[in-house]
Amino acid sequence: MNILLTGGAGYIGSHAAVALASAGHQIVVFDNFCNSRPTVVDQIRALTGQPIPVVEADLRDTAVLLGALTTHGIGAVVHFAGLKAVGESVAKPIEYYANNVQGTISLLQAMQAKGLKTLVFSSSATVYGDPQYLPIDEAHPTAATNPYGRTKLHIEEMLADVARADPQWRIARLRYFNPVGAHESGLIGEDPNGIPNNLMPYIARVAAGQLPHLNVFGNDYDTPDGTGVRDYIHVVDLAQGHVAAVRYLLEHAPGLYTFNLGTGQGYSVLEMVRAFEAVAGRPLPFTIAPRRPGDIASCFAKVDLAASALGWRATLGLKEMCESTWRFQQRAAGL
Ligand code: NAD
Ligand code: WQD
Repeated sequence: MNILLTGGAGYIGSHAAVALASAGHQIVVFDNFCNSRPTVVDQIRALTGQPIPVVEADLRDTAVLLGALTTHGIGAVVHFAGLKAVGESVAKPIEYYANNVQGTISLLQAMQAKGLKTLVFSSSATVYGDPQYLPIDEAHPTAATNPYGRTKLHIEEMLADVARADPQWRIARLRYFNPVGAHESGLIGEDPNGIPNNLMPYIARVAAGQLPHLNVFGNDYDTPDGTGVRDYIHVVDLAQGHVAAVRYLLEHAPGLYTFNLGTGQGYSVLEMVRAFEAVAGRPLPFTIAPRRPGDIASCFAKVDLAASALGWRATLGLKEMCESTWRFQQRAAGL
């Protein structure tokens, strides 16, 4: 199958590209590189041994999308492209709605025009809002608490309407929990611009000496050690989840499917710090800072549906998450 990966040069898209190519698919990357670099595609080529065509364009350019779908004989789309920084979305909501929602409308229009109806969408556990119970299953009520989350919810709802209107669509909405880690080669990984917002890249930069210390946002939550608990999932496991989702869509009746992709296991901020210290073999300075506005105490997934339907489960643990992050970070920092 020829598969178009929107945002295929990004953190998760690049790992999914490698996994999908290794599973025998022909991958085409569609990306405007607003949050990634063209050199990532060279790394994907090196890891897969495939030529990997690239279309450099904005998702909102429907004409270019139409051309790409035709030229490359695309049979399915995995849609990663979007902006993802929660804080930035609060400051720049119009940019977020334009990029994420308008971009997805453009993609759906192009797919519809070509009669192409197989789509995997990168959603997020953020659509569950403040958890009402744990672990969170797919039936948990949805509620977004920031503009980024609302773009994801809008898109999820649009996809449900599309599937209702035309029962030939095959759509998987994948709700990722907290993706971390990197490919074992250290060639691709998460390399955010500026100061990282997320815990794991921040820890990695502290360990590499690029940032002085970690701020632990709150130690008075109702959790075993008082710090926030999250369901961190290795990006390579997550990438395999996309291979399983594509296979599922092709083998099952058309319709709309929704899956949590997590491990089902929560770790606290301090557990993450300790695990990284053990792998890097150096202490990680941290200070306890006030709670970050909008943060919740705990969030982790119920993963039974993906296991039973997709036959997929995360297999890599915290040690592999930290080791691969550290390998990638050392390479990126030239250590
Ligand atoms: P990323 O920023 O590394 O990758 C996104 C890619 O999309 C980048 O290469 C960027 O250049 C590209 N892009 C953005 N807007 C575009 C546009 N209008 N046209 C063309 N290309 C565009 O992010 P990621 O971490 O790989 O996330 C991928 C997807 O998964 C996103 O939709 C994100 O919301 C979702 N997600 C991410 C996380 C996470 O913690 N990383 C968690 C849940 C969901
Ligand atoms: C994890 C834990 C922080 C940074 C975000 C998005 C979510 C999804 C995944 C896209 C929390 C603590 C963090 C730091 C800290 N993305 N922390 N010091 O907030 O669970 O989820 O990324 O869909 O939508 O909201 O992830 O990595 O930012 O935080 O103490 O410098 O680490 O308070 O407990 P989060 P995170």
